[in-house]
Amino acid sequence: MQYRTIGKDLKVSAIGLGCMGMSHAYGAPADKKEMTKLLEQAIDLGYTFFDTAEVYGTPENPHDNEELVGNALKAHRKEIVLATKFGIHFDMSDGKVNHSLIPDSRPETIRESVENSLQRLQTDYIDLYYQHRLDPVVPIEEVAGVILELIKEGKILHWGLSEATEETIRKAHAVCPVTAIQNRYSMMYREYESLFDTLEELKIGFVAFSPMANGFLTGKYDKNSKFESGSDYRSVMPQFQAENIDKNQELLELLHKTAKEKNATSAQISMAWMMNKKEYIVPIPGTRKPERLIENAKAADIALTKEEVIALDQALDQMEMSEVFGGSQIKK
Ligand SMILES: NC(=O)c1ccc[n+]([C@@H]2O[C@H](COP(=O)([O-])OP(=O)(O)OC[C@H]3O[C@@H](n4cnc5c(N)ncnc54)[C@H](OP(=O)(O)O)[C@@H]3O)[C@@H](O)[C@H]2O)c1
Repeated sequence: MQYRTIGKDLKVSAIGLGCMGMSHAYGAPADKKEMTKLLEQAIDLGYTFFDTAEVYGTPENPHDNEELVGNALKAHRKEIVLATKFGIHFDMSDGKVNHSLIPDSRPETIRESVENSLQRLQTDYIDLYYQHRLDPVVPIEEVAGVILELIKEGKILHWGLSEATEETIRKAHAVCPVTAIQNRYSMMYREYESLFDTLEELKIGFVAFSPMANGFLTGKYDKNSKFESGSDYRSVMPQFQAENIDKNQELLELLHKTAKEKNATSAQISMAWMMNKKEYIVPIPGTRKPERLIENAKAADIALTKEEVIALDQALDQMEMSEVFGGSQIKK
């Protein structure tokens, strides 16, 4: 495993492990014993960066993922960087597969969230605490002020923002230095490349979520792929819809061809592409499968030259591709 530094001094494995899909958004939760084993295996492979959130769960067990991660990793607490998130809950009444998000970053809610997360994670500190989505009602400076207090109290060590824009990053950072943003970033979703200059100026890391476009870029899915209609967000994600699979063939072929040239897999190339762009980008792929944990870790070993990355970017710029899932609707 390789390692990277995000923010001023937070050392993390160059590939993190996104734990969401073990409990949330990708069908019924996976078997707890198997996932506990998988998390242990991740430690053995050198993963030190684990990503969860207070809302990763099911209607029956809304905080399933933090409980799983906390329990599985408690023996390794000091060796790892544990990241979790506050500031949203789901609108369970909306009847959608991917429930709408209701932001809530009121100071009293953040304080309650942090206590509950600490308890579920079986720890007395969180290494990296993200605001999951901006709250349009609570100024980001007020949120940053609460975080500053939590840092002084030793309950959190670093903080970050998810799906953050330049304006929010700058306002937040001015009150309490931000270590990382966690935004959607993949070959199918490149909007946040516009933040690179700001991140470099402020020395903030970019944690890339859904780096393989929810698995689509691995090339392991086709028109016959079936997803549980009630609990698997992929059943409604544009990139997985049968009519869009044809539209995305050129992209999958580019990945396949590059993978062959580099003696790698499409999954690895989709992440090597971003990691070779900037040394402060850290993808956090999710998986439930031990062999993919190994495969994904090796993405950090694939070297692409500057020219190769530019050539991939140029190909992507000109390519026809379908829309990609852009996240659940945010209720105002
Ligand atoms: N901040 C936010 O708002 C936000 C939003 C979404 C996600 N996240 C974080 O980002 C993490 C990753 O995002 P994600 O899970 O949405 O997307 P992703 O990492 O792009 O894709 C995950 C999917 O890809 C499959 N997969 C993983 N490795 C593979 C490989 N080598 N070959 C073939 N298939 C592979 C997995 O299936 P198997 O399980 O079957 O391997 C899983 O269904 C999440 O776990 C979560 O921690 C954050």
